Amino acid sequence: MPTFAPGTVINDRYELRSKLGSDGHVYEAHDRHFDSTVAVKLLDPVAGESSRSWDEARRLEKLSSRCLLGVLNADIDNASDIRFIVTPLVTGGDMETMAKNLGLGLHNTARVIRHAAAGIDRIHAEGMLHRDIKPGNVLIDGDTVLVSDLGYCAIMDADCTTDANGTWQTVAPEVASGGRCSISSDVYSLGATAFYAFSGEYPVSLRLQLTEQIERIKSGDLRELRDLAPHVPQSVATVVRKSLAMVPQDRYDSVEAFANALASAMDGRRDWQKVAHDAHALCVAGAPFKTQGKVLVCAERRGTGITIIARHESSKRRVKGCADTNVQLNRLPVELRRIVGALS
Ligand SMILES: Nc1ncnc2c1ncn2[C@@H]1O[C@H](COP(=O)(O)OP(=O)(O)O)[C@@H](O)[C@H]1O
Ligand SMILES: [Mg+2]
Repeated sequence: MPTFAPGTVINDRYELRSKLGSDGHVYEAHDRHFDSTVAVKLLDPVAGESSRSWDEARRLEKLSSRCLLGVLNADIDNASDIRFIVTPLVTGGDMETMAKNLGLGLHNTARVIRHAAAGIDRIHAEGMLHRDIKPGNVLIDGDTVLVSDLGYCAIMDADCTTDANGTWQTVAPEVASGGRCSISSDVYSLGATAFYAFSGEYPVSLRLQLTEQIERIKSGDLRELRDLAPHVPQSVATVVRKSLAMVPQDRYDSVEAFANALASAMDGRRDWQKVAHDAHALCVAGAPFKTQGKVLVCAERRGTGITIIARHESSKRRVKGCADTNVQLNRLPVELRRIVGALS
């Protein structure tokens, strides 16, 4: 794929500006005909299969739904013969960037997953699988959540499976082991995406060697969501864990069933969000709830240990019943879970 420098004008119409996302060949561009801002995705040529290179654009056009990215145009660049798809620009960007490290907050995650599930369900209802559900393929713009990147979407065979595909961070264990994709493997990938939305991290640490990551995915050796995100209620973590079950039959039957279970587990619960404070180990903010105002629970580093302090955000006063607690780093998730549980 040749490099397209910002400023390049495609077919006298699309003026490329900056690159969007961390990988791929997607650019923010100015559409000179409509005087609007759009996203232009340049497609890798598919060797010997020119008809397949339009598949993504055709699926986006056919499936049109309020939870799937729309398509404005699909064409060939006269100068390079590269095919491209033009879609509406989603200004918030992708969930991978948005949720990195801190996650999206509890209620927001349940909402985003519900919308993403509706988009994926639309694909399943057409007899297809997405096969690459991951945070980088969920675009968010305020209230709007759109499933994107139908580049690997495939029609299911009579036995409701397709060839294997996926990205390591979110691929189901049976697919990582060479098995076929199914509705259940899309459920798993949405579960791994929800794990990331809650915690800002993947079920297997990206800090491990890739071969080790793959081994852990294949054997179901995943991290505990509540160790990374102690503000997630146990009932919610149980739902996410079920979506990530090793055995496909042990997962939810559909992405909708998973999203509904997540919404029920969050119902009536206080909203919590990880927040970043300089030099603190891990901090969470609880939204106003019932008669209580907003609270901050911070794990401050003090010498070799950690002190957990819970304060009312407005008055800075200590939260009643939550004395400052000294803990060792390895006990931090347990203590944070206890304090957040008591304040939920
Ligand atoms: N319409 C869009 N609006 C905003 N950002 C987009 C849009 N389409 C893609 N992107 C960004 O580009 C990235 C890659 O796009 P994607 O379609 O997933 O291509 P790839 O096949 O290379 O993964 C996304 O993760 C997102 O950050
Ligand atoms: Mg993508």
